[in-house]
This record gives sequence, structure tokens and C-alpha cells, in this order.
Amino acid sequence: MKKGFKIVSLMLVIALFAAMAAACGKTGSGSKVSVGIVLPTKDEPRWVQDETRFKDALKGTKYTTEILFSQGSSAKEKENVETLINKGIKVLIICPQDGDAAAAAADAAKKEGIKVISYDRLINKTDAVDYYVTFDSIAVGEAQAKYLVDKVKGQGQPLYLYAGAASDNNAFLFFEGAWNVLQPKIADGTFKIANSSEAIALKDKAKLTREEMSKIISQVTTNWDANEAKNKAQTHLTAAAADMKGDVSILAPNDGTARSIADVFGADKAVKSYVVTGQDAEKASVQYVIDGKQSMTVFKDVRTLVKDAMGMAVDILDGKTPTTTGEYDNGKKKVQAKQTPVIVVDQANVKKALIDSGYYTAGDFKNLK
Ligand code: BGC
Repeated sequence: MKKGFKIVSLMLVIALFAAMAAACGKTGSGSKVSVGIVLPTKDEPRWVQDETRFKDALKGTKYTTEILFSQGSSAKEKENVETLINKGIKVLIICPQDGDAAAAAADAAKKEGIKVISYDRLINKTDAVDYYVTFDSIAVGEAQAKYLVDKVKGQGQPLYLYAGAASDNNAFLFFEGAWNVLQPKIADGTFKIANSSEAIALKDKAKLTREEMSKIISQVTTNWDANEAKNKAQTHLTAAAADMKGDVSILAPNDGTARSIADVFGADKAVKSYVVTGQDAEKASVQYVIDGKQSMTVFKDVRTLVKDAMGMAVDILDGKTPTTTGEYDNGKKKVQAKQTPVIVVDQANVKKALIDSGYYTAGDFKNLK
């Protein structure tokens, strides 16, 4: 009897230790997580950049946090949010895989009294989003387009348009910004559109509706996928007549797609020169810029976005109202937002903008002047 009692108490002690160890695991000193962070995918360097910057920013904070990735799946994203809800989060920072689909995850969080911060990409059509931290995405598209306009070599230069995923609200903002600057130059014949009949049909319209943008984006989407971008570029060049080659301009929406599009255009003998845009200042694209294979990138300093998102989360946890600077309509409510400006980077300022600023180190790159 006594022996049995001893075994049972030993087992209880072991179980208790196991539970304590599990609680201490990932999340710091308690079993609870205060801030849950959900990012779209580890497959794109952009979001690994965000993870790294979050980890840097979280060192030494008193609040417990956990970062989960959705790996390009809205179902996985919902599962991640549920996991974090079960861990007792008070604030959810989430960059949606699909802006519409993520509304259900935000609703689930709201039901538990959790505050939701949309991170970089806006969650659409729900009132469950409390705040939005973002870069100025219209300015990203405008900067890309302005770069193309500044470098154009004459009248009638072929222009290839590419866009992000239609499930990402940002893809529309980037395109809207680009169209603001490109449209007058298309209408006056500086550029001739090479790869979108929908864009050609709308070329005299300065402001496009979301539906009109959808029509163009559906023809030239990369779905934020480098392979899809490569295949589309190949198809477009195969179909292009001789007068759509020579010196060309290419609106590529981000770095991952820009590199694969640049590779395809670079390999075509009938393309004499190309100017191609990008965004994110991914290391591989910074090297492409240094090597003259990608013309520019738009640097979005993720340190600032992370700082803003965590600052908001801490304000909420401390019972304060976060500071915002504007608002974005998500189709259901006007979401209070904090917006960060962006910086254009090309060969001329790559060192100053990305190395001297401490964002990257010179040793990350070859042939940096
Ligand atoms: C982000 C970009 C990123 C793209 C693809 C957008 O929502 O703002 O920085 O390149 O998604 O992941």
C-alpha cells in the first residue's frame, strides 16, 4: 500500500514537472502568450525578414510572444490563430495570406476579446480588425512607375505589366499607384502596353475602379510566385512581335518576381535593354541591383513596421490607445492605421540606403562599391 502510494506521488511529481517544462517552452516564463504573430509564408525572403526583425525587437520585452507561419494556406492561418487564441493571447498581429479569407480568423479572435492588428496587408470585409500597420503601398507603386518613366528612352517604348496576387489588397494599391504615374505616359504614347489587352482597353482612364483593376491584374498576375512570373514572362516574350522588344520597361511588383522576370528578359537576344522594378530590398535582389540585373527596389524598412506593430500591441496591453496617422477602408469599416514611408534604391544609393543605415552589412554582398 505504502509502495503504491510512493509510485503514484512520483508519477504526479513527474507529470507536474513535464507540465511546467511544456509551459516554459517557447513562450517564456508562463504558459500564456500575450501577443500572437501570424505571418504568411517562410518561402518568400520578405517574410523571413519580418520574422528576424520581430525576434530582434522582442529581445528583452516583458511580454511573451509567439510567431507562426501560415505557409501560403488560409486554412493553416486559421488553425494558427486558433492555437494562439487557446494560448490566451490578448493581441493578434496578423499578415493575412488572403485578405478576404482571413476575416474569419479575425472574427474568431474578436469573439474572445482579442485586439487584432492587420500587419502589412489589410484584412477585408470584417469589423474585427482594430488597427493596421503598413507601408505606404500606393507610394510603392508610384515609385516603381516613376522609375520607369524617368528611364524611358523615347516614344513608343514597350511596357510589360506584372502584378501581385489578387487575394492581397496590397496588389491593388501597388497597381493603383503605378497606374497613377504610368497612365498619362501610356495615353500620350510614351509607352505602348505589350501584354495586357485589358490595360490597353482602359488606357485613357486616369482612375480605375477596383473591378477594372481586377481585369488587368487577372491577366498579368504573378500570384506573388516567382515561377508563375517566369512562365508568364516567357509566354509574353514568345508572343511578342519584334516591335515589342528592343529597349523595354517592365513593371514587376516585387523582388521575388522581378528576379525571375529579369532572368527571362535578360536571356532574350531581341531585348536590347530592360528596366525592371521591384520592392522589398531582399538580399538576392540587392545583389541583382549591384550587378545591374534588376534596376531598382523599393526599400520598406521592416524594422519600423515591426516597431509600430509591437508598439501598438504594448499600448493595448498597457490599456492605452495606440497612436494612428490615418485610416483604410476594408469594405466594412474604416480601420485606424499607422503608415510608414518607403525609399527607392538603385545602384546610385544602394550602399547609403541599405548598408550605411545598418539594415544589412557590406559582407552580405559582392562587388559593392
Ligand atoms: C507585401 C510585399 C510582398 C508581397 C508578396 C505584399 O503584400 O507588401 O512586400 O513582396 O506581399 O509577399
